Amino acid sequence: MCGIVGYIGTRKASPILIDGLLKLEYRGYDSAGISTIENGYISNMKDKGRVKNLYEIPGIDDLTGTIGIAHTRWATHGKPAKENSHPHMDNSNLFSVVHNGIIENYQELKEFLIGNGYHFISQTDTEIIPNLIHYYYTKNAQNENRLLHAIHLACKDLKGSYAIEVLCMDEPNTMIVARKDSPLVIGVGENENYISSDIPAILSYTKSFYLLNDGDLAKLSKDSVSFYDMDLTPIKKEVKNIEWDVSACEKDGYEDFMLKEIYEQPKSVRETIGSRLKKNEKVNFDDIGFTKETLSNFNMIYMVACGTAMHAGLAVKPMLEKLCHIPVTVDIASEFRYREPLIDEHTLCIYISQSGETADTIAALKLSKAKGATTLAISNVIGSSITREADYTIYTHAGPEIAVASTKAYTSQITLLTLLTLYFAEVLESVSADTIDNIKSELLLLPEKISEALKNVEKVKNFAHKVYTEKDIFFLGRGTDYTVAMEASLKLKEISYIHSEAYASGELKHGPIALIENGITVVGILTDPNLVEKSVSNLQEVITRGAKTLVVTNQEINKENYDEVIEIPSTHPLISPIISIIPLQLFSYYISKEKGLDVDKPRNLAKSVTVE
Ligand code: F6R
Repeated sequence: MCGIVGYIGTRKASPILIDGLLKLEYRGYDSAGISTIENGYISNMKDKGRVKNLYEIPGIDDLTGTIGIAHTRWATHGKPAKENSHPHMDNSNLFSVVHNGIIENYQELKEFLIGNGYHFISQTDTEIIPNLIHYYYTKNAQNENRLLHAIHLACKDLKGSYAIEVLCMDEPNTMIVARKDSPLVIGVGENENYISSDIPAILSYTKSFYLLNDGDLAKLSKDSVSFYDMDLTPIKKEVKNIEWDVSACEKDGYEDFMLKEIYEQPKSVRETIGSRLKKNEKVNFDDIGFTKETLSNFNMIYMVACGTAMHAGLAVKPMLEKLCHIPVTVDIASEFRYREPLIDEHTLCIYISQSGETADTIAALKLSKAKGATTLAISNVIGSSITREADYTIYTHAGPEIAVASTKAYTSQITLLTLLTLYFAEVLESVSADTIDNIKSELLLLPEKISEALKNVEKVKNFAHKVYTEKDIFFLGRGTDYTVAMEASLKLKEISYIHSEAYASGELKHGPIALIENGITVVGILTDPNLVEKSVSNLQEVITRGAKTLVVTNQEINKENYDEVIEIPSTHPLISPIISIIPLQLFSYYISKEKGLDVDKPRNLAKSVTVE
């Protein structure tokens, strides 16, 4: 987590750095800082709190340096405080460094440096980096590429993850960056170069990017970038042009990014479907091109992810098993990676990650690759780390998702996984063409039906107003509705800080019903015609015990039984999560607004979880 920005060029660096940090604040927002080189010395300004607090620092407007690095922090080592904020400098104030990631062996390195006369003022793991660079820099005074060598040697000592930017007072026209297991991109301009943790933060300056691989270093001047691998061998890289529109990264008149992203779903789902599905044609995945022989070789599919992305996997598991007749396990990446899963060359492992940078998901992918499984990444971010590790990659094309709470990425992930399932079923000839055609027709109607579901906003808002002071809210469902309950419950916790649980309705009697008391709020999701009667009975059990109920449904039910009923368009039950989640995303959003919270940047959370 944490966001880093850098600039080297001919313009004043500080406004560009702060602008970039503001766009990266979703990655962390408990402290911020910038370093620029000013007439031969390094200026370092930082403080705890939001990026906008930087404007309050005396002298920040007077900075004129045209090279600088910047950081917005999500604290891991050391509380949010000025001394723990980045950039960090070495003891002699020769180097300034910003870092995203975690240095796992920092204690050991700190002791080594203390033994060599260095002292530390922060509790961070990062502060060892500028000092370690200084250590190697002074040891290799004769080396002609002294700075690059010192940084390379320091990086070789680091265990863990890092994306770093380094300024050195001796080389005021050079910036060096390096990455391992933390994201970093270089944006190319005319007579200027930009660095960022992600593309959207600098998209208003350039659409041409270099992507760094794990272990890469880059040396930048205003008009050149040289790349090196982890052995310091020079390497060449191609510039990638990004098609995202700048307006996709702005709020576009919406109060919050989350609301904008909720309303973008008709469009984002349409983009996900793209040219993969056309009337009367087979689903097109020529880009991965699995044959019947390849697919028949898989006797097990794993879908591995974290949080919302994992819920997308859960939503699709029933369809994948039903249509392809292959057992599917959905697993949490942080569990999967440490429990020696039974996988081999007959396993297909699908990794789902909006950012493509989630540390646990990437580690799980590496593990399954090592065990011989075939790996397929599903990501929203072109060129993200996960896509560079996997054997195959397919993109959701949902457009940039800025709000910390994921909305449009979830519906696009389910849409893409549904297309993938239909493709597998067509290649395997595992179900009738009618069954497949049925779901295909419904997929093409999704954008329209999502727009219809969004029209419930006033009813949702009213119910949110009635219950926003609650301490606990429960979500119930069966089958795919249960998976939506889990996602809705996560969304609510994240942005409203209300305690919430999701239960499979049938499990209620096995314990959780003890929590149901007079006045408690229960949300029911009822979209599967085969399960609706059973779900209605379960809701009756909580109503009998005094619960207030909100029901999201596309079934014929007796509406009078409930406090509020949100009617959504009907669709094929296997893809109903893509529609039924919509009013529940709005529900969390409006509860958070009623409570006056920062919807886009909920406490303790960051968008991209690049640490374990
Ligand atoms: C919840 C949310 C998180 C992410 C999770 C995985 O709204 O956004 O639960 O889904 O951190 O992130 P990605 O998909 O980037 O791997």
